[in-house]
Amino acid sequence: MEKAAMMVKARRLVRNVSDLPTIPAMVSRMIALLDSNEADPDEIANLMLSEPVLAARIIRIVNSPLYRSSSEITSVRRALLYMGFRSMREIIMTSYFVNAFQGKPQAFAAKIFWTHSFSVGAIAQRIAAMVNYPDLEKAGLVAIVHDIGKVFMGHYLLDDYARMLADITETNCSTYQAELDHFGTTHCEVGLCLAQSWNFPPVYCDIISHHHSCQMATEDPLLAAIVSVADFACLQHAGNGIAQPGPLSTSENHAWHVISQQPVKLPEQDFYKFIESLDTTFVEIDREVRHVLISMMGS
Ligand SMILES: [Fe+2]
Ligand SMILES: [Fe+2]
Repeated sequence: MEKAAMMVKARRLVRNVSDLPTIPAMVSRMIALLDSNEADPDEIANLMLSEPVLAARIIRIVNSPLYRSSSEITSVRRALLYMGFRSMREIIMTSYFVNAFQGKPQAFAAKIFWTHSFSVGAIAQRIAAMVNYPDLEKAGLVAIVHDIGKVFMGHYLLDDYARMLADITETNCSTYQAELDHFGTTHCEVGLCLAQSWNFPPVYCDIISHHHSCQMATEDPLLAAIVSVADFACLQHAGNGIAQPGPLSTSENHAWHVISQQPVKLPEQDFYKFIESLDTTFVEIDREVRHVLISMMGS
């Protein structure tokens, strides 16, 4: 089906929802400030303090084992200086994203979904470092939000989506294909609509939209490739009921081609061997992800 027709269906789905979670304009402003080179720590710290829930969460995360601060950090200003603008941007966006749908009924186990999202984030950062991608935090963040459309579909189309997931376990087809068959659109188009309504930067929108067709990604093709390979690696490592790995798709083949063409030498030149070489990294990642889930969701 044409992407344009899938977009029309996705827009209709998102438009028909009256209680779509919103991200406060103040948070979008904070992210834009953190993205710019002239950000002033005092201005950002003041914006954070105007959102007490966010401020409290940041303090909890910065003191979690994930960030290994040697002494306890109790102010958002110190947290900001300790973590740096880029990491702070990552924490703010992900915590709002997690929060937007937290506790709402879902067609799947939220914990499995977030484990997948944060694992893809962690693997994407590792791959980004291997190919010298210049913004590791962005790589992690885009990867964490890549499947954002599934959270929308699993909540607002709960019964139909649950039925579709039950069918998948019998047919073994990919989640992407099953969504297309059931809804005429997929989590990629729905995710794009959400990302646009939350004013995510263009590169995030493009990768959310094209992480299963990364040959079409235009904003940052290398980052799209990193996310696509990280997604595949995580599904191979721990396939789950929400996302099934299919055979290597055109998108994944393209992604591997982009990554293996980078001037940096990778540990393996064969796609499957490369994915296998990440196996030991997953032990570390599984532990990291557990810490993230505890600090973000308290479970
Ligand atoms: Fe996906
Ligand atoms: Fe995924």
